[in-house]
Amino acid sequence: MKELIGPFSQIITMANLPERGAISDNSLEIIEDGGVVIENGKIIEVGDFSLLSKNDLDIREINYPCVLLPGFIDSHTHVCYYGNRSDEYAKRNSGISYQQILEEGGGIHNTMNSTSNSTDEQLIDDTLNRLKRHFQEGVLTCEVKSGYAPNLEDEIRMLKIINKIDRSNEIDLISTCLAAHVTPKKYESSKKYLDSILNDLLPKIKKDNLSNRVDIFIEEKAFSVIEASNFLEKVRDDFFITAHTNQFTSGGLKVGVDNGAVSVDHLEVINNQEIDYLSKSNTTGVVLPGCSLGLGIPFAPARKLLDNNCKVSIASDWNPGSAPMGDLLMQASLLGSIEKLSNAEVLAGITCRSANALSLEDRGSLENGKIADMIGFETNDFRDILYNQGKLKPSFICKRGKIYN
Ligand code: NIG
Ligand code: FE
Repeated sequence: MKELIGPFSQIITMANLPERGAISDNSLEIIEDGGVVIENGKIIEVGDFSLLSKNDLDIREINYPCVLLPGFIDSHTHVCYYGNRSDEYAKRNSGISYQQILEEGGGIHNTMNSTSNSTDEQLIDDTLNRLKRHFQEGVLTCEVKSGYAPNLEDEIRMLKIINKIDRSNEIDLISTCLAAHVTPKKYESSKKYLDSILNDLLPKIKKDNLSNRVDIFIEEKAFSVIEASNFLEKVRDDFFITAHTNQFTSGGLKVGVDNGAVSVDHLEVINNQEIDYLSKSNTTGVVLPGCSLGLGIPFAPARKLLDNNCKVSIASDWNPGSAPMGDLLMQASLLGSIEKLSNAEVLAGITCRSANALSLEDRGSLENGKIADMIGFETNDFRDILYNQGKLKPSFICKRGKIYN
């Protein structure tokens, strides 16, 4: 049965926007007093509510001021973890660096241990609680990385759990294998570890269809540019590639781009040459304001990336170490305020441009044929959403045509 939903004070379709570079709010398609017709979880028509045919369809009336947007897409998270690192947060604020804590065996190693020691029930419960919050806050598609496993069996366990949660819950998850996060302590060398990921882990992930994406953390104390280059060269024919890079030091971006990465993520430390390189590539730069807020480091230069015609997506990086807050809309709003981004640039960064970063063609905008993932905010002016810096939450959520509130 077809359903007509509306009228919405404004529908911001996010359709027909450029994939890269700066965008002004004037480029947004805004349908005043709009309606959406859906059928079998997909959008079949978007237009002026009063002009849409009302024959042979159910009408779901929206009788309060409401601005409709595509559901948000979080293109980079680590929400599958167990444990807490508030002790490290306090340590960092007393002057000990993130990298130093990692070198001393804490940081990512800390969460590898607590996650590995959790029961499936504990890990699933905690992950689900985070994802339920995300869903209520408008994130209807979420990328989730593995990478908190001290051995390859636990890597598989994490990916299986992410896939299980995807199948059993409303939010859509995109799993990514981040076995190459840091070398677990039991391995003699990073080279041996990367070899075993290549030879023992990835073939199984491919065979069991646990993920079609592979990530690597390119950084001092993680994996070097040369290690990453050798690794990605062997992965790139079988998986989409993404990389954590340029968080504390420059250099890794080029390796990602040269290996056809769909995205290079972080970019807090990036030089002009790298910006130029990124702008001439098809790779998206994923900026992570939640990490800057969590670690107290500068934001990635989103304004400069956009002005140089790069592809830019904004993600939460939700994880227990660098980005524990996990509120994508709040973080994107704050980034917009500090970096002087238009509403259009911020909203594109968490909708259509995130879909592009995750190679998802069926979502990210409200157009005929796309899945009916839509969120509504109680206001009649879309600019109120970012103006409220994350405190205005969605009051209407529709996932694949099913309305939740
Ligand atoms: O994106 N930098 C590497 N990985 C994560 C943090 C992981 C952690 O500290 O637990 C990030 O910041
Ligand atoms: Fe991350």
